[in-house]
Amino acid sequence: CGIIARASPDDAVGALVDGLERLEYRGYDSAGVAVQHDAGIAVHKHAGEVADVRDEIQAAAPAGSVGIGHTRWSTHGPPTDANAHPHTSDGGTVAVVHNGIIENHAELRGFLSERGYEFTSDTDTEVVPHLVEHFLGQADETLTAFRRAVDRLEGSYAIAAVVEGEDRVYATRAGSPLVLGVDDDACYLASDIPAFIEHTRDIVYLEDGDVVVAEPDGAQVFDADASPVERRRERVDWNSEEVGKGTFDHFMLKEIHSQPASLGKTTRGRIADDKRGVRLEELDTGVLDGVADVHFVACGTSYHAALIGARMLSDVGVRTRVFRASEYAKTAGPVSETTLVVPVTQSGETADTLSALRTANERGAATMTVTNVVGSTAAREADESLFIRAGPEIGVAATKTFTSQVVTLTLLAQQLAADLPGATPRDDLPELLTALERIPEHVEQVVTSSRASDLATRLLEYDAYFFIGRGMSQSVALEGALKFKEITYEHAEGFAAGQLKHGPLALVTPETPVVGVFTGEEAGQTVTNAMEARTRGAEIIGVGPAGGPGEAASDIYLTVPDTHPVCQNLLANVQLQLFAYHTAKELDRSIDKPRNLAKSVTVQ
Ligand code: G6P
Repeated sequence: CGIIARASPDDAVGALVDGLERLEYRGYDSAGVAVQHDAGIAVHKHAGEVADVRDEIQAAAPAGSVGIGHTRWSTHGPPTDANAHPHTSDGGTVAVVHNGIIENHAELRGFLSERGYEFTSDTDTEVVPHLVEHFLGQADETLTAFRRAVDRLEGSYAIAAVVEGEDRVYATRAGSPLVLGVDDDACYLASDIPAFIEHTRDIVYLEDGDVVVAEPDGAQVFDADASPVERRRERVDWNSEEVGKGTFDHFMLKEIHSQPASLGKTTRGRIADDKRGVRLEELDTGVLDGVADVHFVACGTSYHAALIGARMLSDVGVRTRVFRASEYAKTAGPVSETTLVVPVTQSGETADTLSALRTANERGAATMTVTNVVGSTAAREADESLFIRAGPEIGVAATKTFTSQVVTLTLLAQQLAADLPGATPRDDLPELLTALERIPEHVEQVVTSSRASDLATRLLEYDAYFFIGRGMSQSVALEGALKFKEITYEHAEGFAAGQLKHGPLALVTPETPVVGVFTGEEAGQTVTNAMEARTRGAEIIGVGPAGGPGEAASDIYLTVPDTHPVCQNLLANVQLQLFAYHTAKELDRSIDKPRNLAKSVTVQ
């Protein structure tokens, strides 16, 4: 879910709705706003996307200079008008928006019901406005009542509230993101910076437990002990163009095309001129002291990047395991002080990944997150952070952040090769680093000459799509299948090429195209497996360098520049991003906001 709040001397409604559209990547089941005006708090909310409710909100909401807004990804209760946020107290004196989960909501519901409060939704959130109203009856100040209500909550949350008759927003966070934006004559609170970037780039990252009182002429922050506190103000270097679609039809296509620039930023200043080493200056390498093995924890696309990172580390002799973050607490077993746990997370806010990070911290491991978002929870809770520098990504399907993650992890592996006793730098390090520096140019070649859109028009209406590869290209196959299913809604699965014959081959028919990632040294063996599918009538779509072993074996072949094998894999991924995009476009899918998904899933 995404939340936004604004306190300003002007009408807040337009800015709130614009902000919600910028936050829709966090959920788009329903949307709503509440604004403060002379006759009380006006709430407008509906099931559906922000665009669906925009006109009505704008036409119906009376002008008000202070307000809150929400775009929802359903957890408790289906996406209905009643379950949409903001939620209000019985008397309508308090309106609340919330991102996260209130774990003790059932108990609080009981407490409030006994005191006569009536509930109108299935959400966990609805306890909050009632609780604030309950404590308003007991406290002299709203701030005290808000704090007392928040103190009763267990779980993770970012909350913003307005109270009838007060031109201010009360907000707090614990385990869910909330950023304060400060302009000359307005204050904003939001789940993420793009929500208000067109108004201000001056931001304050809030700490867990902080309570903020935002008014048109400034905001006051109180820490978890209720003492006033000055949090550091920072200026972000994103501009509003970066968070717009520009001339592209979709954010996803824009983000695919922006990879030459984002990858240039990822490597800038990090590769030694003589190509014999890397420099990850923001990293305090003290965190590596005594490290004997590495655990990656991640979800979704980031998990696939971590698989490649693990391969890069094992290539230089570092013992590495990769875990799905949601399984880490149960499957990692004892973690020692010599384990470095690396959460890989674009947003830095994925609840499953944060939970794995917290498990690692509790068990005494050293932790280093690899993330795109400075100031994110993962960045703040890990001992160290390494930033992938991809810039804001809005499309729900991750593209440029995946390639920047892979490149960052590749650089990290070379740093560990140099720093960890027992690790050995790669023989081909200069070739790899030279190829990494040329990756922006090679990605440009792929995006400008790709034939993926012709392919998409030919390959509609099949039963299923299988993606295969070996070694690192297996991770590319898994990511290719994930991207394809996320945005086309077609059945797609990725397999280790060698495993096809051990079961999945039973599914292969002339109606199931097989996408072979024919990159790197193992391409020849993958061709053998592709042939097993071709013999059963499947059409083979190959991705690999021109003249590579996969070309002759493919019915249709998407080429990548013949560069270092690691980089060939990245380029193959770009081709598969385009294949997924163009197929989804032919099928008229909601590419930037695929059904049932959200970019940043802040519940476990
Ligand atoms: C969600 C998104 C995926 C993403 C995953 C991990 O499930 O839909 O696209 O890969 O979260 O996100 P993270 O921000 O941790 O990389």
